[in-house]
Amino acid sequence: MSNPSLLILPGDGIGAEVMEEVKKIITWFGDKRGLNFDVSEDLVGGAAYDAHGTPLHDDTMAKAQEVDAVLLGAVGGPKYDVLDFSVKPERGLLRLRKEMDLFANLRPAQCFDALADFSSLKKDIVAGLDIMIVRELTSGSYFGEPRGISDLPDGQRVGINTQRYTTDEIRRVARAAFELAKRRNNRVCSMEKANVMESGILWREEVIWVHENEYPEVELSHMYADNGAMQLVRAPKQFDVIVTDNLFGDILSDCAAMLTGSLGMLPSASLGAPMENGRPKAMYEPVHGSAPDITGQGKANPCACILSFAMALRYSFDAGEEATRLETAVEKVLADGVRTADLLPAGDTSPVSTSQMGDAVIAALDASL
Ligand code: IPM
Ligand code: MG
Repeated sequence: MSNPSLLILPGDGIGAEVMEEVKKIITWFGDKRGLNFDVSEDLVGGAAYDAHGTPLHDDTMAKAQEVDAVLLGAVGGPKYDVLDFSVKPERGLLRLRKEMDLFANLRPAQCFDALADFSSLKKDIVAGLDIMIVRELTSGSYFGEPRGISDLPDGQRVGINTQRYTTDEIRRVARAAFELAKRRNNRVCSMEKANVMESGILWREEVIWVHENEYPEVELSHMYADNGAMQLVRAPKQFDVIVTDNLFGDILSDCAAMLTGSLGMLPSASLGAPMENGRPKAMYEPVHGSAPDITGQGKANPCACILSFAMALRYSFDAGEEATRLETAVEKVLADGVRTADLLPAGDTSPVSTSQMGDAVIAALDASL
């Protein structure tokens, strides 16, 4: 049987640097655990624009459709701010999400004990935090039609985006959330603005439908998304799984990310329907961006990208134990006090570099054998 295939798209900024460390980890799993992958690499975002004049070449899109999983670094950077909207780096990422139909975006926000002091919130509010945000990723205001900027007869301009959700779009992401909850603490909180938006009313009704008909054993609650944002910083441990739409999910997941101490720690998985081989269509990427301010300086924290590969092991390759091995290795390295610059208290001048962090994780993996 051939090895499972991985397409690596490092992208822009620190994407390339953090992905170098993930490649070391992939090699380690091949050498030491017999988990071999056929790895190929390509361009996305500004890097693809520089080479091809488009943030995602059709050939790359086709490759992404064929592989078992895509690993993406980050896209964007100030250099590309002047580009036309249609070729901005982010369009490459959104095209991958849309054409692969990756409707369920899993964003775990977990506070590692060793980092509880780094949260902007008090330690007792975040210590032990372990929540999972399931963000709908292929619809809503990111993709709804009509959209665009046009001229009005009176000389003004108008900018339009449309928040639009169908029954099926809501039900399938709700199912993903209930399935995850069953393997966690059995609770789902659905967030929308049913008090002001019809799309929010439908969202709530369809989530309730899925709950009553398919997952009555899971505990379901509802919150308006603004209250959800407040509750996330007031008492985040009240949540287990949060399910929400594309735009609210974008905002709420950044909010949840800061609870954990550093955006440099947070992985994500974007999953679609099962392919013929039973694996879901999948792309894994850190939640952080391309961080142009620290690019090329060896300062980036590779943990979010490494933990994204752990999610790939769990959700694409049925290797949950190996995923846990990798997550435990990262946790051990942090507990040992190894820190990239983003994880150091102000005034502390002894960070390790991106590659030293990767090496420390490899050492911890070796020690796990
Ligand atoms: C994210 C990012 C993206 C989004 C950008 C880069 C298009 O913020 O993954 O959260 O808005 O979805
Ligand atoms: Mg975002």
